[in-house]
Amino acid sequence: MGDFKTITTDVLVIGAGGSGLRAAEQAVAEGANVTVVSKSLLGKAHTVMAEGGIAASLGDVDPKDNWEVHFMDTMVEGVYISDWRFAERLAKEAPDRVFELEEMGALFDRTPEKKIMQRAFGAHTYRRLCHVGDKTGLEIIRTLEDRILHSENVNVFDEIFITKLFEKDGKVTGALGIDLKKGTFTVFESKATIIATGGCGRIYEVTSNSWETTGDGLALAFNAGAEMMDMEMIQFHPTGMVWPPGVKGLLVTEGVRGEGGVLLNTKGERFMLKYSPEKKELDARDVVARSIYREITEGRGTEHGGVYLDISHKGSQFIMKKLPGMYEQFMDFAGVDITKEKMEVAPTVHYYMGGIKVDPNTGMSSVKGLFAIGEAATGVHGANRLGGNSLADLLVFGKTTGSNVAAYISSVNNSRIDSRDIESEIQRVKSFIKENAENPYKLTEELRKTMSENVGIVRDEEGLDKAIKKIKEIQSRIKDIGVSGGMVFNPGFLQCMELENMSQIAELLVIGAKMRKESRGAHYRKDYPKKDRNWLKNIVFTKNQNGIKTSFFIPPEMPDYLKKLLPEEKYD
Ligand code: FUM
Repeated sequence: MGDFKTITTDVLVIGAGGSGLRAAEQAVAEGANVTVVSKSLLGKAHTVMAEGGIAASLGDVDPKDNWEVHFMDTMVEGVYISDWRFAERLAKEAPDRVFELEEMGALFDRTPEKKIMQRAFGAHTYRRLCHVGDKTGLEIIRTLEDRILHSENVNVFDEIFITKLFEKDGKVTGALGIDLKKGTFTVFESKATIIATGGCGRIYEVTSNSWETTGDGLALAFNAGAEMMDMEMIQFHPTGMVWPPGVKGLLVTEGVRGEGGVLLNTKGERFMLKYSPEKKELDARDVVARSIYREITEGRGTEHGGVYLDISHKGSQFIMKKLPGMYEQFMDFAGVDITKEKMEVAPTVHYYMGGIKVDPNTGMSSVKGLFAIGEAATGVHGANRLGGNSLADLLVFGKTTGSNVAAYISSVNNSRIDSRDIESEIQRVKSFIKENAENPYKLTEELRKTMSENVGIVRDEEGLDKAIKKIKEIQSRIKDIGVSGGMVFNPGFLQCMELENMSQIAELLVIGAKMRKESRGAHYRKDYPKKDRNWLKNIVFTKNQNGIKTSFFIPPEMPDYLKKLLPEEKYD
């Protein structure tokens, strides 16, 4: 056989962030043999950028909180296109997942009564975010990683890039990976495959996402025929760093505003009082991000294109206890002492609400044997995500999907993957090594610029048309991209493969944004600035022989016991 090795496993988990690790942990606990592959080094997941906490209605700080209010907040934030079946499960199960994580070894901040400390976050009715200072995502990764590395039935391979999923008789049977350190190929034969690769923030110029987040798992699933939903919905977190340029986009946790930080323009005005007199800095992320955008575009922003975020009034002791990461980040990168000085911030692409459409009960996509979780999946967050709901999501659905996969594999056998399919994919990948080819970095830069300029916080038909035209041009040039050298530790070679994925997901994002002729949550169209009740539905894309097939999804009717939890405003 050709120059590849084969690893046979029950479950292949692609991605080693919080969702992948939680699912792996569960599948192993229920008897499965699991292989986890990660494009980067273990621990370098975007999960760590969910800093401020896990949303779970423990009621430890605000005793009136309960799952019903959390459900309502989630549906309202998703502007009623979240699938209530996911939102109900998330709200009901999040508290148990937090306790479970604690039993696994996570150390949460405590109240004076030794309960779990919970902080305020935007658009949550109550203080609900269970946290570890401003390093909550990191604590999740640390806890789960520790368990995974000590488990006998799970193998972890890092710095492996998955290039393709294989199928037989309509079922996913495994994947091809290339070891980025050695330039060697591995075929993973699996009974079930879970996509846990996160979102696609890197298709924009300014993002909180680490360099890995290039939509790889989304593209793998789309190319395998999976239904993709809500692809137009991408979240701009209101506060990322703007200066110095090397850290532009780096997250400034919502925890700063949750702990009392205020937003100011260059005239010293606390402008959220004007845009959102009641919720102020703690309104929904889309509202705060658009308000900042407006202040900047109307000329009340800083010379670096931001506004100010100030928490210095809280005093040094408080800040060092609650926000030590933010103190270090601003001190180390910008030389700014946030206990005395204001931070400079602006919106940054943070989270993809769109992704692989999965069944709410099983977590399986529309392709048999292919599951998705966390940011790679869709359905929970609709048009916008509440801060802290991503960590709740990955714990809740990581566990249920891990468990469902363990049950699923008991009636499935491993299939041999046809060696001709493997060889042809290896040849395709190798063909990126060539001389005098189109430069993948340059094309990536063009793609990011196009997305940032035309598909940002505020969109319109003209900009979206420009974007789609440019993406088509980039896609036609992609066939000529390549780099010289070999496949060992060659970042340009990886960039070629990532760019293919990025351009494909960018295309779906823009097509969805063009179709949705209304404004809802994170999707704001200045040419259609209002919500339209005809758009209380989700856009679904599938790949077919003719290109991209479009359909619509409306979840089954919500039962009365949930309907009565929602405010009347629904169809405004
Ligand atoms: O601001 C933050 O700490 C981010 C949290 C989240 O996206 O859930």
